[in-house]
Amino acid sequence: MDRTTKIYVAGHRGLVGGALLRRLKRDGFENIVTRTSSELDLRDQSATRAFFAQEKPEVVILAAARVGGILANSQYPAQFLLDNIQIAANTIEAAQQNGVRKLLNLGSSCIYPKLAAQPLREEALLTGPLEPTNRAYAIAKIAAIEMCDSFRIQYGSDFISAMPTNLYGPFDNFDLNGSHVLPALLRKTHEAKKAGADTVEIWGSGTPLREFLHCDDLADACLFLLDNFSEPGPLNVGTGVDLSIRDLAEMIKDVVGFEGKLRFDASKPDGTPRKLMDVSRLAEAGWTAKIGLREGIETTYQWFLEHENELPERAHR
Ligand SMILES: NC(=O)c1ccc[n+]([C@@H]2O[C@H](COP(=O)([O-])OP(=O)(O)OC[C@H]3O[C@@H](n4cnc5c(N)ncnc54)[C@H](OP(=O)(O)O)[C@@H]3O)[C@@H](O)[C@H]2O)c1
Repeated sequence: MDRTTKIYVAGHRGLVGGALLRRLKRDGFENIVTRTSSELDLRDQSATRAFFAQEKPEVVILAAARVGGILANSQYPAQFLLDNIQIAANTIEAAQQNGVRKLLNLGSSCIYPKLAAQPLREEALLTGPLEPTNRAYAIAKIAAIEMCDSFRIQYGSDFISAMPTNLYGPFDNFDLNGSHVLPALLRKTHEAKKAGADTVEIWGSGTPLREFLHCDDLADACLFLLDNFSEPGPLNVGTGVDLSIRDLAEMIKDVVGFEGKLRFDASKPDGTPRKLMDVSRLAEAGWTAKIGLREGIETTYQWFLEHENELPERAHR
């Protein structure tokens, strides 16, 4: 892509879309198109068609989605299924009809079967039952991959699908009612330090293993893939390294400077024992993560401190 390429970043106010927008601007891309969901609801087929016909983007990054934690996913499966299928179908169809030359579809590791072998390989897709709590969301995301692949077969569209692991970074959701484990631990530990508490309570035993990728690393991977990757099927994007929740909590404690103790509440659910992406296909394509976890947590905490009193509203989560 040269710096004048017209790029539509769908979902530019989200964790992923925001990181992409910052990166594109930093790299000097000057022809970026964005719309908030109230300006363009991608569930609306005619509005989406009209937008593409008018703007004619050359490249599309599909980072718009209805995203949520276990609670939201299990309470509103119909909405997670319908919204995400509509967003993907309308965007992918309009992209093909308007001659988009490259589209990057973002999915997630939840597309893989609940009991797939770890680390998760791309070949595991559709080989077994999904995790029931987010099955509706996962099926919408699998449908989006299939759409990209089918458009590639039928129309020769260069549409690719990247599946990021757990992400974190600035502009993440730090609301303790709906946030993922890393931002939640960061906030809890920070608040314990501020309150002079003796302990921080952490859900579960601390033994599950998880992988974390900084959203700026994901943005870097996305730009790399747009220029260098053109194959069907999902492509895992992660670090290929995991650590226990206990080790993560210790690292956060150290970064925050909390001197109390961590208390693990093993009566609370642990979730799956391990979730790690196999990133060998991505490495073969030529990309590896660059931001170390400790460094990423330090800069995220710095951002959190600077924005603690004006954290963005994340009502859609
Ligand atoms: N966060 C993670 O850890 C993670 C991990 C793996 C994969 N992913 C994937 O990455 C993608 C983006 O996730 P994210 O964490 O960046 O989500 P996010 O922070 O919740 O942002 C989602 C964005 O989608 C937009 N959006 C939602 N519904 C829309 C609609 N109907 N029409 C137009 N835009 C709409 C929102 O726009 P407005 O702000 O304008 O409302 C929002 O900016 C998702 O596909 C997700 O599965 C995320």
